[in-house]
Amino acid sequence: MKLIIAISGASGAGLGKKFIDRLPKEIEKYIIFSKNAKTVLQKEENCFFLDNDDIAAPVSSGSFQSDAMVVIPCSMNSLAKIACGISDNLITRSAAVMIKEQKKLILAPREMPFSAIALENMLKLSRLGVIISPPILGYYAKIKTLEDMEDFLIGKWFDLLGIKHNLYERWRG
Ligand SMILES: Cc1cc2nc3c(=O)[nH]c(=O)nc-3n(C[C@H](O)[C@H](O)[C@H](O)COP(=O)(O)O)c2cc1C
Repeated sequence: MKLIIAISGASGAGLGKKFIDRLPKEIEKYIIFSKNAKTVLQKEENCFFLDNDDIAAPVSSGSFQSDAMVVIPCSMNSLAKIACGISDNLITRSAAVMIKEQKKLILAPREMPFSAIALENMLKLSRLGVIISPPILGYYAKIKTLEDMEDFLIGKWFDLLGIKHNLYERWRG
């Protein structure tokens, strides 16, 4: 799987980093940080760090054939740009490509509370097939620590991507 992971400048950029840490080695990871994302990742095997200003990076083209893209966390700024089709950096351009190519795009919007503008943007994107998957907890998973909470969220995103994991306890009825 070729997976694009974008980290924009919302609170919880560390969660995006942890998501990458938990991904299986065999997945090819193309990682984009927005200028506002403060967390810096160390280079790992099978990871390609892309410059958000490099609009000509391979993932900016539909011909690259990415399988999926996640934006974790997704700021309201990036959300609004993606909803409007603005492609002014590599994150927003790659997201636009995923939408036009009808590939899997998962956004994890992080804001509290959401404004009507943000909600309208999410509805518009959802109707286009984009998966809106904010970092929201499920209390059934016996979460005790911050680490459990993050593993639960990452597990839910992995479920959406079809990546096998054992990060949270599933509801068994
Ligand atoms: C410490 C800090 C926390 C922030 N948290 C959020 C947040 O949770 N959600 C959000 O939409 N914006 C948040 N912002 C504002 C964004 O960083 C700002 O809108 C920025 O323009 C986003 O740019 P980007 O989408 O290119 O990353 C935060 C800013 C700072 C400095």
